[in-house]
Amino acid sequence: MRAMNRRGFFGVLGGAAMAAGAGVPLLSGIRGSTSTGTLLSSRVPLPGRFRRPLAVPPVLDPVRRDAAGDHYELVQRAARVELIPGLQTEIWGYNGIFPGPTIVSRSGRPTVVRHRNELPVPVVVHLHGGRTPSSEDGYPTDLLMPVGATEHGHHMAGAVTRGERDYRYPLEQRAATLWYHDHRMDFTGPSVWRGLAGFHLVHDDEEDALPLPRGERDLPLMIADRSFGEDGSLLYPSLDPTLTRPGVRDAYSPGVLGDVILVNGVPWPYAEVPAVRHRLRLLNASNARRYRLALDPPPPGGGGLVQIGTDAGLLDRPLRHDAIEMAPAQRYDVVVDFGAYRAGQEVTLVNQFGDGPAAQVMRFRVTHAARDDSRVPERLSRIAPLDRAQAVVNRTLRFRHDTVHGMTGWTINGMPFAPDVVHARARLGTVEIWRLTTDFHHPVHVHLAPFQVLTRGNGGPGAYDRGWKDTLDLRPAEQAEIIIRFDGYTGRYVFHCHNLEHEDMAMMGNLLVT
Ligand code: C2O
Ligand code: CU
Ligand code: CU
Repeated sequence: MRAMNRRGFFGVLGGAAMAAGAGVPLLSGIRGSTSTGTLLSSRVPLPGRFRRPLAVPPVLDPVRRDAAGDHYELVQRAARVELIPGLQTEIWGYNGIFPGPTIVSRSGRPTVVRHRNELPVPVVVHLHGGRTPSSEDGYPTDLLMPVGATEHGHHMAGAVTRGERDYRYPLEQRAATLWYHDHRMDFTGPSVWRGLAGFHLVHDDEEDALPLPRGERDLPLMIADRSFGEDGSLLYPSLDPTLTRPGVRDAYSPGVLGDVILVNGVPWPYAEVPAVRHRLRLLNASNARRYRLALDPPPPGGGGLVQIGTDAGLLDRPLRHDAIEMAPAQRYDVVVDFGAYRAGQEVTLVNQFGDGPAAQVMRFRVTHAARDDSRVPERLSRIAPLDRAQAVVNRTLRFRHDTVHGMTGWTINGMPFAPDVVHARARLGTVEIWRLTTDFHHPVHVHLAPFQVLTRGNGGPGAYDRGWKDTLDLRPAEQAEIIIRFDGYTGRYVFHCHNLEHEDMAMMGNLLVT
């Protein structure tokens, strides 16, 4: 292994990775749209809507539980599945399935996940939303090489392991809907697109004490758009389909949008539900697509999406919405009372930001009345607001389109990601305010420490900004202030845009906590 002068995506193209800001071509048609990205159309007739049942990813059993925590094992491998009727699609999956198995942890009880890499490329596993020591966080160059790989070519000076490694998660954090996904430098977009994503739920006593819907009435829903070739294969505009050289075709550098909406890996599924409250853990696992989700028809009186939680756990009080806007990587926990509908009624989860097929997500068929002991209490949790006066540092971070050596890319404060470029140094235990500004849509994600939103534009937090967040939905030419306390662990982390094409094309920074 050797440390390379290579600087990720731009370094491959030669030379030092500094942005040249002048002469940036305006990406036409993006401002004013609902997502920043380019539609990649499928070349196969799209599967029918609401014909296949919703699948819920299996909960993974631990291989053992001992004093060190709960131990799990996952194998990352290719598999063939039928997503388009009559055709086979090769996916990359944790245990060969997409989404991967759901891991369920108890707050404060360590979880150890042994990953084995049987894929042809290096991988990195990141637990999104985890409060995780730096060595376990899936730093983009801490590669897990394929089983049996021999020394090949160049890789970064990260902590490289071969074949198998353990990721140790202390999970000293609140109950929340987390997810795990690939995070390899320059290749997160194509790897997640192929299927490397799964849920990781954390439970705690506070949440268990609430009378919320549980068991089969607590549904994790991973929403992701994809596109398919004529043979049923997943389409993605990689310059190099072997994922050795990074980059996508230039037209797709704003982000890749698919035209098939998958929920838990099934195109436009339906779910039969009794007429009772259900908790829906909504995750937007799309590379670039934003959604505005609503129930059609809405229940009498409206407000059918009762938000109880977000990225980093429960809200203090429930919030009633007619629609919920979700940027990539965000989670919204909502309770829907299907008891407000008649037995036999069909309720479609629609996407008001989508056109054509992307305007629909899934359908619920309300089957029959049933007993419902659940309810949504008016007090869910306690959230101590972080106060502006606590902040010791104010930073401004500009997320924008850039040209780097003639290539389209994305930078933060004009600096493309490189393992040795530090965008922010924070002292453990201190509070900082980050002012984030954008040109296009940039869902900004910070590892390690969740944050609260102080302002958006000239006002306070937006309708979807409540609670502890780890990903902020920033819209074109917008600015927001977030307040963060850096505690837990020291070390090197990243923060980045979670439009995965932006992330891969360098919109990521190092966050050094000392
Ligand atoms: Cu979900 Cu750094 O990522
Ligand atoms: Cu993360
Ligand atoms: Cu972005």
